[in-house]
Order: sequence, then structure tokens, then C-alpha cells
Amino acid sequence: MKGLILSGGAGTRLRPITHTSAKQLVPIANKPILFYGIEAMAAAGISEIGIVIGETGEEIMNAVGDGWQFGVNVTYIQQDAPLGLAHCVLIAQDFLGNQDFVMYLGDNMLQQGLTDFVERFEGSHQAHPQLGEPAPAGPAAQVLLTHVENPSSFGVAVLDEYGEIVQLVEKPKDPPSDLALVGVYLFTPHIHTAVESIQPSPRGELEITDAIQWLVDNGHRVTHDILTGWWIDTGKKDPLLDCNRLVLETIEPRNDGTVDDLSQVIGRVVIGDGARLVNSTVRGPVIIGAGTVLENSYVGPFTSIAADCVILDAEIEHSVVLERCQISGVPRLQDSLLGRDTIVTRSTGIPSATRLLLGDHSHVEIQ
Ligand code: G1P
Repeated sequence: MKGLILSGGAGTRLRPITHTSAKQLVPIANKPILFYGIEAMAAAGISEIGIVIGETGEEIMNAVGDGWQFGVNVTYIQQDAPLGLAHCVLIAQDFLGNQDFVMYLGDNMLQQGLTDFVERFEGSHQAHPQLGEPAPAGPAAQVLLTHVENPSSFGVAVLDEYGEIVQLVEKPKDPPSDLALVGVYLFTPHIHTAVESIQPSPRGELEITDAIQWLVDNGHRVTHDILTGWWIDTGKKDPLLDCNRLVLETIEPRNDGTVDDLSQVIGRVVIGDGARLVNSTVRGPVIIGAGTVLENSYVGPFTSIAADCVILDAEIEHSVVLERCQISGVPRLQDSLLGRDTIVTRSTGIPSATRLLLGDHSHVEIQ
């Protein structure tokens, strides 16, 4: 079985971070979102992975390389325009060949690994018929579903009384069920005929949801698993902070930095190589990146601070801070996402005022 990770897309809902960086490379607990997906595939025994890239492709190639660091082989597939998930399958046909594959949306995060999901699909192809009975047809596809409160934001599935999928609709205004399609799909090569047969949706994309519906309409079986554990589509700030919180709750505490006598480290905390705490308190779960310095500061629960930041006379909680940020004299920062090289400082000039230099699509809430 091969793997296909979709890592194109413009990331408009995470601007301005995504003006300069791919949304799949925003870190959760200081590790790019995309790496979790690659690791989950590697853990499920998948060693040949295709990554579909768009305009941020170069950055993704620099971060992932040939896949050696994950123990897999990565092939990049360039998508010239974001024409839909089924379009990604279409352009990946040479890479996928005649094999089954798991397709994974590069900005999705799942608590559950892929191993059980993949094993169940492979098992369903190897079912041995009872003597004299015809072999049951294996499913052409298997999807992962979860109950959601806002089905209109997703692809939605309808099941029959045997638990088989009978209908799939992309972002329905009037949802026929609350079962959303999670961004992980298992396919046999039948999907190639399906993606060649469908037409673009009203949003101008070749929808994978329509391709799966085509399989159903043409007599193929589509089975499903119901997700256990959490699933987050990290494309916006608040879900991203939620995801960071959930992952930080699982980190193994470690201290590879230095903590002076006036500092306090409480709970689940990872302190990176060469990081320094000076007269500061860190209350976990928190991760502090390599080379970051905290001085006269407080870092509260559910915060990830990346490498080479300086936090001085400041308090921060429930936030994600990317590399090389400087935060000083700020009494309380929370629920925040700071892009690389951001400076947040207390204004000392007269007249006292809030002074901003913000990129396009920035979002600032002033107290
Ligand atoms: C895509 C799929 C949708 C699925 C969702 C999961 O939506 O089209 O069916 O439920 O991913 O994240 P998009 O992210 O393109 O809006």
C-alpha cells in the first residue's frame, strides 16, 4: 500500500502566517503538523509516500526532504492550481500505479493512528469465502467518519441499515446526517476511474466526495470506520490552539536546558537544548524550543514556544509562538498565534500609545 498526502492549498484562514509559510508546516508542540501525518503513515508500515504540493512546495520539500528522517521514500507531485482533492488523485496516478493507497489531508491531525484503519482495509481484501460460497467483493474504498456538530462544513455520509455508505454530499446546506468525512481515505485503484468520470463542483473543484459517490453509484462497496479519539482540521487559529493543547498533554517531560535557582518548572514541561530559564515560572504542559531564553517571565499551560525566542518580563499562556519571536514587557498574552520573527513589546514612549506594524490579514485584539 502507498500513501498520498495532500499538502497544497493556500491556507487563507491562517493568514498572515500562511503569507510566508505553508499551513501544513505550522508547528503543534514544536513539530510541523505535516510530520505527524508522515509519522502515522510510517507507523502503519507505509514506506512509499507521495506528497502533493502547490505554491508552498519548495518550503515543504526543504522540511521533509526525501523522507529519510522518517524512514520512508517521498515523491513530490506538483499541483499547479488547487483544483480539488480528486484532482490530486488524478495527477498522482503515475506515482500510485495499480496499488491500494491511503490518502491523508496534510493539515488534519488525528489522535488515533492509521494502523488499525489500514489493517482492517487490507484484511477486508483477503477475506476467504466459506466453502461453496462466492467470494464477497472487497470494498473499493473505506472512509473514516465522525459525528460533528456542524456537518455543513464537511463532506457528509449517509449509511444504510447494514452500515454501508449509500450517499455522500460535500458541504450540504441541509445535512442528511451528522457524520462528517475525516480527511483520511483508503482506496483501491477503482478510484482512478471515478476521478476521471466526475465533473467539477460548484466551487470549481473535483471533489473526492463526488468520486466516492461515483463508486457507490457504480455498484462498488464503500465501507467506513467511526473515528475514536479527537480529530482536528487545523486550518484556523482556534482549532490549532486546541490541537496544540491536546498534543502537549501527551509530551514526555525533559530538560535539556538550564533552569536557575530562582526559576520554577511545574508539571509536564519540555525544555529544549540550550534553552535558559532565568527567574521564570513555567507551568506545564508547555514546550520550550532550543535556544529560547525566558527571563522574569511566566509561561502558562498549553503553550508551545519554538526555538530561539526571547521572552522577557512577560506572561504568556495557551498560545503558539514560532521561531525567533521576541516578547517583552507584556503583562498577559493568551490564545495567541505568533508567526516567525514577530516582536511584541510594551510601548514606553510618550505619548503612550499602541504602535503596530502588521502584515496583511493580521488580527489584533487590544485590551
Ligand atoms: C475536505 C473535504 C471534506 C472533508 C474535509 C475534512 O474539505 O472536501 O469532504 O470533510 O476536507 O477536513 P475542505 O478542507 O476542502 O473544505
